[in-house]
Amino acid sequence: MKVIEYDRYGGPEVIELRERSEPQPAAGEVLVRIHAAALNPKDALVRAGKFKLLSGADFPKRMGYDFAGVVAALGAGVTGLEVGQGVYGMINSWKAGAFAQYAAVPQDELAALPQGLDYAQAAAIPLSAQTALQALRDLGGVGPGAEVLIHGASGGVGTLAVQIAKALGARVSALCGAHSAELVRGLGADQVYDYRQTPPSQVPGRYEVFFDVFGNQSFAAIKPLLAARGRYITTVPNARNIRDHLLSRLSPLKQARLVIVRSRRADLEQLSAWVAQGRLRPLIAARLPLAETARAHAMIQGKNTHGKIVLDIP
Ligand SMILES: NC(=O)c1ccc[n+]([C@@H]2O[C@H](COP(=O)([O-])OP(=O)(O)OC[C@H]3O[C@@H](n4cnc5c(N)ncnc54)[C@H](OP(=O)(O)O)[C@@H]3O)[C@@H](O)[C@H]2O)c1
Repeated sequence: MKVIEYDRYGGPEVIELRERSEPQPAAGEVLVRIHAAALNPKDALVRAGKFKLLSGADFPKRMGYDFAGVVAALGAGVTGLEVGQGVYGMINSWKAGAFAQYAAVPQDELAALPQGLDYAQAAAIPLSAQTALQALRDLGGVGPGAEVLIHGASGGVGTLAVQIAKALGARVSALCGAHSAELVRGLGADQVYDYRQTPPSQVPGRYEVFFDVFGNQSFAAIKPLLAARGRYITTVPNARNIRDHLLSRLSPLKQARLVIVRSRRADLEQLSAWVAQGRLRPLIAARLPLAETARAHAMIQGKNTHGKIVLDIP
């Protein structure tokens, strides 16, 4: 099979397209014939060695977490899925491996393909949308009537977070570049601010949740914007955010939270239900062939893609 690998941490130039034998599904795993996979900033960060302690020093390494394709074989003990069925999901393991024609994936990390989506659209959902769902619903307790402010609303996570916050019943304000304002309004944001004109800490209003998707704010800076029991939620696991996450848990009032996304079948099924109801649609910024994975990495490192970059797997 064709698969993306690399032999050392470094820039996009370390990425290679190779031929390897297909994996075999172990007990509890599903062998997926992948037709599309999506990029995330995590792919570029891991490749650059930013998470070495977690991703390890064994090479060659594979790449890619988000995928959509067809069940090719079932490992022992897998229930509820059939060979030939369309599936999508996200690989939890740091070993990754979605940028390949086949991957063996734990059964809880995938679900049936959402109704009405093709493989490219489905692959654009799992990591980004589960991040938004787990941040807003699980860490933020967002429900009907909540005031939510999303910073970084036009990117891979943000475009899905705006729609998910609306689906949870929130009133959504969003921060993005001026050139992204129409796009973000079209996704359902009630109010849109340009972060170059209105710094995030000066946005008017009080919020139950400030979701710092872009990740360049802090709990201290955003605290004045939070409602009495409001939550500042960040996507960036740096020392300050981990400290704020741990310390503010003791507070009965405003708290900081760090989201660390996990792939779960139940969450994928919730996302699929919203897709079927017409409440969630992925936005594809670019589609490239698997052989152009290095170019896709260079694009995502630019931090200005609107929606997701998807790789078509031959
Ligand atoms: N902890 C976790 O589990 C987890 C999960 C997923 C993602 N993440 C992290 O979350 C972050 C966002 O991920 P993503 O997939 O949404 O990234 P992305 O798609 O690459 O984000 C691109 C967006 O960033 C916006 N942007 C660029 N400069 C900005 C600035 N100065 N202020 C505000 N927005 C700016 C751009 O908006 P405009 O063009 O409108 O300016 C663009 O739409 C990344 O750091 C990623 O590593 C963490």
